[in-house]
Amino acid sequence: MKSDHIRTLLKDTAVGTSVTIAGWLRTRRDSSGFSFLEVNDGSCLANIQVIADKQLANYETEIKKLTTGCSLVIKGELQESPAKGQRVEIVADSIEVVGWADPEHYPLQKKRHSFEFLREISHLRPRTNALGGVARVRSRISFAIHEFFHQKGFHQIHTPVITTSDCEGAGEMFQVVTEQELKDTARRTGESESFFGSKAGLTVSGQLQAEVFAQALGSVYTFGPTFRAENSHTSRHLAEFWMLEPEMAFCDLSCNMDLAEEMLKYLLSDVVAHCGEDMALFDKFIEKGLLAKLHHVVDNDFVRITYTEAVDELLKSGRDFEFPVSWGVDLQSEHERYLTEEAYRLPLIVTDYPASIKPFYMRVNDDPTTVAAMDILVPGIGEIVGGSQREERYDVLLGRMQEIGIDEYEYQWYLDLRRYGTTPHSGFGLGFERLIQFITGMHNIRETIPFPRTPGFAPC
Ligand code: 4AD
Repeated sequence: MKSDHIRTLLKDTAVGTSVTIAGWLRTRRDSSGFSFLEVNDGSCLANIQVIADKQLANYETEIKKLTTGCSLVIKGELQESPAKGQRVEIVADSIEVVGWADPEHYPLQKKRHSFEFLREISHLRPRTNALGGVARVRSRISFAIHEFFHQKGFHQIHTPVITTSDCEGAGEMFQVVTEQELKDTARRTGESESFFGSKAGLTVSGQLQAEVFAQALGSVYTFGPTFRAENSHTSRHLAEFWMLEPEMAFCDLSCNMDLAEEMLKYLLSDVVAHCGEDMALFDKFIEKGLLAKLHHVVDNDFVRITYTEAVDELLKSGRDFEFPVSWGVDLQSEHERYLTEEAYRLPLIVTDYPASIKPFYMRVNDDPTTVAAMDILVPGIGEIVGGSQREERYDVLLGRMQEIGIDEYEYQWYLDLRRYGTTPHSGFGLGFERLIQFITGMHNIRETIPFPRTPGFAPC
């Protein structure tokens, strides 16, 4: 069925135009001789007001029984609206009720619902203003990511969801087995007989495969779902999340940091420019001062410090952190947030972490206790990007793998990239949901993805 988008009608369409809309009723208010219907079609945050006159054939039998959530197809004429705050309204010629929503049972009533409650009805929550807005913003940022990289001449690579390489080596992979293997314990343990001939899992990162293509196409990116069996119940962890991972040949750590900073500023500017109405809602109801925060980030250089400087800053803060700080420990969320929210009040790029707390593929620095890593920390969240220059020297990489106990035979293909035409190269991973959290001000990451998956929770 062809219908008009409410977004277009409210903005551009001329008064007097015959229009058709298809959407869901938000509210009905009766007056003498007619009813006001507020209808939303999801194309934008705003509803359009529809005037339903008592002359309509189904006025008494249907229109006066309409409740929140009913789906409607409305034909009518766009007219100038006498009401404040809206340019136009529709005077209906016909209203077809496509689907009823029993008010006794429909859980979304006009009042505000808590996000915790809405998570329990994840199949209905996109119909709320806030979650509908997040979905539109998410879609826009995803589009802007592709636009940014295509403008820069990057090629998108579809890296696999099922893989035999645990990129991060943190033991957080979900294993992939067939139902038959599950029934047959003997086959499950006998790896050679398993479906893929060796132990396979869901990817934790597309980086290693992106490196393959960077070593052929120069600048590439992969953007897709990644999976981590972390038993984290925090407001910034998901078991399934999307990661954007650019990877560039002939690019060192500083070129990598420049790209990440430029990209983040591009994405923030783009969403403010294209999702103004939704962003204003978040600024008003979700995080006061959100838009000012985003402008501040776009207008200022990110601060760049080394891990060693970060540790010094934390030590001299005099704070009583839950996790004590000393050189060599991984930075926790509380440390990251102190640095970016209080010490520097800007996004921060922390570089040169101890090799002992970072994965095997990061390039060893000359010192040689640190690696050419870089994490980007932002206020309110902490780490949003993790990246590094990759170890391009065959012998050093092999030595590191042996030291950590990684089976070099399983990674011959990865070592080959260093054996044949190696290049200094680097890349990073942006946690897409953490970026949406930062942009929308949503407190919990579970509100930033259509169907969150966390330990003990995966409805739909
Ligand atoms: O720092 P991470 O683990 O980096 C990598 O996976 C690299 N292989 C990326 C690369 O260099 N190509 O993860 C990257 C980002 C983090 O900074 C964080 O934003 C996000 O992914 N992230 C998560 N987001 C939600 N839930 C989780 N459980 C996450 N774990 C990481």
